[in-house]
Amino acid sequence: MIAVNPERFLENLHRLRAFGAAGVGRGVVRPAFSAADIAARDWLAGEMRAAGLTPQFDPVGSLFGLAEGRSVLVGSHSDSQPEGGWLDGALGVIAGLEIARASHEAGGPPVSVVSFQDEEGRFGVTTGSAIWAGNLSLEEADRLTDRDGVTFAGARAAMAHLVGDFVDSARFTGFFEMHIEQGPWLYEAGEAVGVVTDIVGIRDMRITLEGEQNHAGTTPMHRRRDAFQGLARFNTLLNERLRNVVTPQTVWTIGHVRLHPDAHSIVPGRATFSMQWRDGDADRLGRMEAIIRTTAQDVAQEMGLRVTFGDLLGLEPVAMDARLRDALCQSAEAHAPGRWRRMPSGALHDATNVARLLPTAMLFVPSIDGISHAFAEDTAETDLVAGLKVLAEAVARAA
Ligand code: GLV
Ligand code: MN
Ligand code: MN
Repeated sequence: MIAVNPERFLENLHRLRAFGAAGVGRGVVRPAFSAADIAARDWLAGEMRAAGLTPQFDPVGSLFGLAEGRSVLVGSHSDSQPEGGWLDGALGVIAGLEIARASHEAGGPPVSVVSFQDEEGRFGVTTGSAIWAGNLSLEEADRLTDRDGVTFAGARAAMAHLVGDFVDSARFTGFFEMHIEQGPWLYEAGEAVGVVTDIVGIRDMRITLEGEQNHAGTTPMHRRRDAFQGLARFNTLLNERLRNVVTPQTVWTIGHVRLHPDAHSIVPGRATFSMQWRDGDADRLGRMEAIIRTTAQDVAQEMGLRVTFGDLLGLEPVAMDARLRDALCQSAEAHAPGRWRRMPSGALHDATNVARLLPTAMLFVPSIDGISHAFAEDTAETDLVAGLKVLAEAVARAA
């Protein structure tokens, strides 16, 4: 048993939300390496010290709070989407902090805490934990750019005064990540807890279509090489072609589009957009990639455009560790009998990367109306506390 303090946990969640608080409700704008993100990490380092841990930033700004000796690691990330909620990532970090502190105070098992950097993919896909786990080299990462062309190397220079060495994963015996579900299933079923079985795989790249920039009043329709029309055609054709290979669990998204030069009276000469797809089956991800590339090339040829593909980023689907997962299941049954389920994760998490290094397991609590990656993201405080207790007991069992 680790006797956690629910009031202190909720208070710290609200304190973390104050860094980058924005929008309506409990919204947050705290992207990786922003001033709000760095200030939040600085605050977290102080809280780790107060919890009896030694804070250490790694070279990319992931913050570890290290217990003495070998320990269980608990955490998630504290950066947010460009428009995010107060719990995505923050919940797992503050839960880890509370469990580590409570255990330290009571002379319990050593528990370390982590907040990985850029989980939300301003630059890559779960960038900080991908580097820590060896899924992405630091050299490759440094060349990645955000949507405004800022490099990862340039962005992380803003934390140069804080950072130290990489942390040796051999000091940890396992990793637990608690997270909001970010989907509707627990909330709709009135359940309290989800124990994650596996996490889907992802592929993500930038595609650019180039045509000819020209006057929107004088260029006849038949002479245009309009990059936006190419994107529109690509999207329609892709949706038709993917139908043959996907399942109801497969998802794909064009979430970012930039037209050049982005003006009412100019036929756009260039469209750059993000193309992301996710599925639990690595083979299917590969088949989708082939369709995406062929479709873009077909559209480019048909419409007199030029297509270029950016780096393909990705993570493979992973299963959670059976022993740690069982510890979560037993704890869920003890705290929320009949009100929990085993479930896959459609969202990406740092746990995907850490699973390469350590036995890893994850726990979900419900998201109100299934909303996340939006200011409206929220979870009932009773559900947050229930999740904390389930996690604390599982950590104690695993330790
Ligand atoms: C992580 O936030 C994801 O995009 O799944
Ligand atoms: Mn997250
Ligand atoms: Mn997220």
